[in-house]
Order: sequence, then C-alpha cells, then structure tokens
Amino acid sequence: MRLTFKKLRRWILIAAPCFILLLWICRTSRTLYFWTPNNQTFSPPKNCLKKHAVPQTQPATLVAVNGTKTLLVSAYLEHRTSVKEVRIIAIKPRKEKASYLCHLRCQEKLNVTRAKCKIHPDHFRFHYGTADIMCPLPSGCPTPSHVAVTHVDDKSEETLDQDFLEVKNQKSEFDSFPYNFTVCFSTMFDYTNVLQPVLFQLVQSLEMLQLLGVNRVVIYKTSCSLETQNVLDHYTHEGLVEVIPWSLSKYLNVSRGWLPKHGPGELHYFGQIPALNDCLYRYMYRTKYLALHDVDELILPQSVHSWLELLPLLEKKFGANKRFRFRSHVFPNDVLLPPPIFPGVPPQDGWGDVSGVDILSHLYREPLPGTGWVDFKVIVEPRAVFWLSVHGALKSLNAFVWVGTDVARMYHTRAKTRPELTLKELIYDGRLLNYSERLVPAVNAALRDSGVLPEDRCSVPHG
Ligand SMILES: *[C@@H]1O[C@H](CO)[C@@H](O)[C@H](O)[C@H]1NC(C)=O
Ligand SMILES: *[C@@H]1O[C@H](CO)[C@@H](O)[C@H](O)[C@H]1NC(C)=O
Ligand SMILES: *[C@@H]1O[C@H](CO)[C@@H](O)[C@H](O)[C@H]1NC(C)=O
Ligand SMILES: *[C@@H]1O[C@H](CO)[C@@H](O)[C@H](O)[C@H]1NC(C)=O
Ligand SMILES: *[C@@H]1O[C@H](CO)[C@@H](O)[C@H](O)[C@H]1NC(C)=O
Repeated sequence: MRLTFKKLRRWILIAAPCFILLLWICRTSRTLYFWTPNNQTFSPPKNCLKKHAVPQTQPATLVAVNGTKTLLVSAYLEHRTSVKEVRIIAIKPRKEKASYLCHLRCQEKLNVTRAKCKIHPDHFRFHYGTADIMCPLPSGCPTPSHVAVTHVDDKSEETLDQDFLEVKNQKSEFDSFPYNFTVCFSTMFDYTNVLQPVLFQLVQSLEMLQLLGVNRVVIYKTSCSLETQNVLDHYTHEGLVEVIPWSLSKYLNVSRGWLPKHGPGELHYFGQIPALNDCLYRYMYRTKYLALHDVDELILPQSVHSWLELLPLLEKKFGANKRFRFRSHVFPNDVLLPPPIFPGVPPQDGWGDVSGVDILSHLYREPLPGTGWVDFKVIVEPRAVFWLSVHGALKSLNAFVWVGTDVARMYHTRAKTRPELTLKELIYDGRLLNYSERLVPAVNAALRDSGVLPEDRCSVPHG
C-alpha cells in the first residue's frame, strides 16, 4: 500500500507541472494565431492587421459589343506593324461570325474603320477564345485616344452609346524602362478561403523574385481573402505588385480547368490567356524583360545569382533579342528530406510555427523525363512578342532558345508528376539554399508587416 501511495505522489508531482505548462501553452498559442489544422483556415490576430494606403489600379472593365457576345478587355496602339493599328484584346465565342467597326476618337473627330479579327490559336477547345480586334488607323488619325467597337449590323450606330476604351501605349519607348524585370502571374482566383500555406508560398515567391532582380509583379485578381489582400496591399504599397481586378463572371462562366473535361465553363482557366496578353501589352514599354510565372515557380540561374547577371550571359551566348525558355523541374511538395550535410550550407531555422510549403525544405527533384513534353516558362523582351500563351510566346518577331539546365532552370514546387519514382531516384538540388540567408529574414519581415505573423508587441519572440 505504501509503495503505491508513493508512486501516486510521484506521479502527481511530475504530472501537475506538465499540466500547468500545457494549459499555459494553449493559452499563449491561442493569442498567437487561430490556426486549426482540421479545416485549415487561418486568421491572424485582428489587432495586428495593417492598413496600407494603396494606389488604386483601374480595373480591367470589360465592354460588351452590342448585338454580339464579344467582350473587349483593353486597347493598345500597335507600333510594330507596317500600318499602325489599334489592337483590342477581346474575348469572344470562337465560332461567332461578327464583323466589327472601330470608332476612333482623334481629338474632336470620330473616324470609323473596318476591323479585322483574329482568334488566338491557344483556346484549349473552349467555346470562347482570346481574340485581337485590329483597327487600322486612317491617315490623319495617327494617335486616337479612345476606341469603341460596334457590330456592322448594329443600326443604332447614329446614336453611338457604346463605351469607349482608352487607347494605351501611345508612345513606343525603346531605351529607358522603369523596370528591368516584370513578372506576369497567372490569374489569382479562389484566394477567398486561402490556406495559410498558399499565402506563405506567395510571400516566399515574391521575396525570391526580388532577390533575383524583379521590380514588378502583375497579378490579375479574381477573388482573395482578407489576409491575402493584406499581403497584396503590403507589396503594392512597396511598389512591387500591381493588382488588376479581373472578374469575367458577370459575362460568362469561366472554367477552373485547362481543358473542358477538367471543369465546365466557356473559357479556359479563369481567362488566363487574355489576362497574360493584357499584361504583355500593358508592360510592353515599361519593362526591359517580361517573365511568365506561377506562384509555385522560380527560374534560378545556376552560376550567377540574379536575372540581372543571367540575361547578359544568355545574350552573349545566344545573341540578343531571343526568347529564353527554361525547363521546369518538379520538386514534389510531399518530399521533406533534409539536405545532405555539406560544408557551408547555412543553418535552416526556417519559419518555426508558420506552416506551409517551405520551398527551402523541398530540395529533391524528379529527373527530367527522357522523352515527351517538358514544361517550361519564358523570359522575353515584350516588344518582340505579339501573342502570349500559358507557357510562352505564340507569335513573335524572334526565335526561341532552350537555356541549358546548367545555366538556369525552373524550380516548380508542386505535387509530384512521376509517382512511379522512388525516393532514391530523386535528385538533391540545394541551389535555393544559396538564397536562404537573405530570404528568411525578408519573408519574416513581410509576413509581420502584412499582419500574418504577429509583431513583437503582439506576441512571443519569433525566430
Ligand atoms: C475622319 O473623320 C473626319 C471628320 O469626321 C473626316 O473629315 C475624314 O475624312 C475622316 N477620315 C477618314 C480616313 O475616314
Ligand atoms: C443595341 O442594339 C439594338 C438593336 O440593334 C438597339 O436597339 C439598342 O439601342 C442597342 N443598344 C446599345 C446600348 O447600343
Ligand atoms: C536595372 O538594372 C540596372 C543594371 O543593369 C540597375 O542599375 C538598375 O538600378 C535596375 N533598375 C531597377 C529599377 O532596379
Ligand atoms: C453560368 O452558368 C449557370 C449554370 O449553367 C447559368 O445559370 C448562368 O446564367 C451562367 N452565367 C453566365 C454569365 O453565363
Ligand atoms: C552556392 O553558390 C556558390 C557560388 O556561386 C556555389 O559554389 C555553391 O555550390 C552554391 N551552393 C549551392 C547549394 O548551390
């Protein structure tokens, strides 16, 4: 009896402090962040959210052409064709037979010209496709300020009350650009119920791009959560990000898939292709180079550190004015192996409690398949490109070159694409660790400034 009583007393002596400690941890961590692993929703402490004064961008307001199902996205002066034209980026049913008239506003006058329309070849068999409506400029009207489009059969032409689009890119500048590198992100959708991991990856990606020399990231945003908006506001305030509100749902049903069988709808993947083309023209004379990217992709040079150093190398090797293609390497996001011990690899203290895909801990990649399609992304000089699609330029003045994987390659942290591979067949690639010393503090600062990570005054210290 005495023995069991002693045991019980010892047990209580050990358990009680543990229990108190546990209670304390629960209480403090609740004030840290309300993150419940079950439904994976996350909301930062409200008192830490910051409001930034953010310059507003004019939304890409669509204009419907009366009597047709055609939607106009934006209008740009085209300087590169032998006859100057206005290029209107549009979305229309591919089979719709419509003839259009352009109403060009030149100072106080209005000139009418007949338009030509071309459907972009990449439409992935959806009902709607991206189109260019080209308005030739009559002599005496070299720089129209606005343009409206009507259907030829529209008899209400006399009382023209179609909305006019502003014609942008009035000047073609070729020598001084405010930005060296601009990245066009694919459309941002469904960030309304965003998981913390996705937000975390967005911040890592934006910080990595800056380390690589990127000055501007353009995001076509359909919807996002309050937390994501705070992150976007932070970067807009800093001058890195331009958010362009992008909603087509009033006019048509966009698909969530890249083929009709992957998601019902009338237009490919949230209207990604018209958005990318708008990005191309919007930044044509504002950036030296333009890159296509998704939030989970990074083009990393192998022998130098930034794109600023990489592009001169590529241009020396391949000649200027090429389209550079970078092969995608898949880093499966379910493989979490530590790097082999190398001297000089900086310690990874990482992000502690912040959960999410930490690109610095996904360092094993699938070998490239020997044959078949290899995914890629591009860096281009936008002034040489006419049409953009998901991966690259469809129509361009210059040729493309494949950049060797020893020079630069794309890192794509995503679900594995070759499930048949064993862990041993994956290849260690620690290139990202070369950036970690600068990346980790930058990400932490951005998360704090956007209120995703609590600031010191709101919480316990954080690594
Ligand atoms: C353009 O409009 C002006 C005034 O409306 C007209 O005098 C001129 O002939 C037009 N030019 C062309 C090429 O249509
Ligand atoms: C659209 O076209 C119809 C018939 O052509 C006409 O009655 C109507 O006024 C037009 N609406 C606008 C906004 O131009
Ligand atoms: C663009 O690159 C040049 C070096 O090539 C650099 O001096 C300049 O500051 C960069 N511009 C921006 C906006 O970062
Ligand atoms: C989208 O699809 C739904 C269901 O098929 C339909 O009711 C709705 O009118 C469509 N919206 C548009 C803008 O076409
Ligand atoms: C980091 O960069 C240095 C110098 O460019 C290089 O020698 C080293 O191998 C790189 N480390 C990794 C892991 O890529």
